[in-house]
Amino acid sequence: MAGVRIEGLAKAYGDHRVHTGLDLEVVPGQCFTLLGPSGCGKTVLMRLIAGFEAVDAGRILIGERVVADGASGVHVPPDERGIGMVFQDYAVWPHMTVFDNVAYPLRIGRVAAAELAERTRAAVEQVGLAGLEARLPSQLSGGQQQRVALARALVSRPELLLLDEPLNNLDANLREEMRFEIKALQERLGITVLYVTHDQEIALAIADRMAVMDASGRPRQSGTPAELFDRPADDFVFRFLGIANFLEVRRVDGSLRLADGRTPWAGPAPDRPGDRLAVGFRPGDVVASRGGEGLPGVVRRASFLGAQVDYLVEVAGTTIRAAVDSGRAFREGRVLAEGEDCRLAFLGVQWFDAGVLDAGAA
Ligand SMILES: Nc1ncnc2c1ncn2[C@@H]1O[C@H](COP(=O)(O)OP(=O)(O)OP(=O)(O)O)[C@@H](O)[C@H]1O
Ligand SMILES: [Mg+2]
Repeated sequence: MAGVRIEGLAKAYGDHRVHTGLDLEVVPGQCFTLLGPSGCGKTVLMRLIAGFEAVDAGRILIGERVVADGASGVHVPPDERGIGMVFQDYAVWPHMTVFDNVAYPLRIGRVAAAELAERTRAAVEQVGLAGLEARLPSQLSGGQQQRVALARALVSRPELLLLDEPLNNLDANLREEMRFEIKALQERLGITVLYVTHDQEIALAIADRMAVMDASGRPRQSGTPAELFDRPADDFVFRFLGIANFLEVRRVDGSLRLADGRTPWAGPAPDRPGDRLAVGFRPGDVVASRGGEGLPGVVRRASFLGAQVDYLVEVAGTTIRAAVDSGRAFREGRVLAEGEDCRLAFLGVQWFDAGVLDAGAA
């Protein structure tokens, strides 16, 4: 299977510079997700890798082969790059049956009839649609239509599968089901997948490795999902991977206090110097209990969300979110009411410089 290497990639439209020297590497046989906010250049990158657009500068290698090079002007056409693709708006042709949709790339490639039938059947089976070959897309669910698009991307036996937000049109349950299926398919076929999305849950769930990009298209951090989640390189990555709480912590006369200058910070010690710091934590990193040790707070809102109880807790003038597992909270009689005093204990925190408090004011 082929990996992908992007070296110093640049692309602009007029004076709008979308990518300015992007470097990225996708290891062969892995699923790599690229997570970034809307407009950061994910689709543009996919179009450059696929060959629908030419690079301004830099190189793209698929396996050992240079498929695009700004300096020498190399530009391998899309159908010679060994790529399969599924895009956000699953463009299955409404007037063609499942079979004809999936067989389409082979027809274009003038594959002989017997082989075409065999490979199409295999691709349809790979995505779990065997038996539905004669149906039209209008006779399929959204998830089934998405499988057709996936089968069509796989039928040419690509070395690399590019997936650009392929699950956006699906409802939450189906999205979850399909993301496990894409992952299972990728592992079964041993294919290299590059998946771009702005959905952090999908990105974390299916990646072997991933990168987080900021709005200007700059990769902020790459690594395994666990590394990025647990050891974010900066507050952008921290915020982008889930709900983020921040509290200001000051060093006053050798002790640590919250923004009110009075309440003592009660949690893990800072890992950096400075008189004004920010401590970041996720709702699941904090345990809210009635009484006991910890940072004092007041429950402002308690929402029962099924599996979890979600609290808004006011701490020294700042409102933070804390989540507890409902089952445990019920068993231990720890469900807190609105207006109740509580204590917060921290399972883990991230320290940042205080500037992140101003950046995240929105
Ligand atoms: N053909 C084009 N001409 C001019 N500008 C373009 C063109 N294609 C994309 N852009 C601009 O490039 C930027 C990146 O677009 P892109 O579609 O890659 O974003 P994205 O990360 O895929 O966003 P989303 O998550 O919303 O799909 C945007 O500002 C977009 O307006
Ligand atoms: Mg896009």
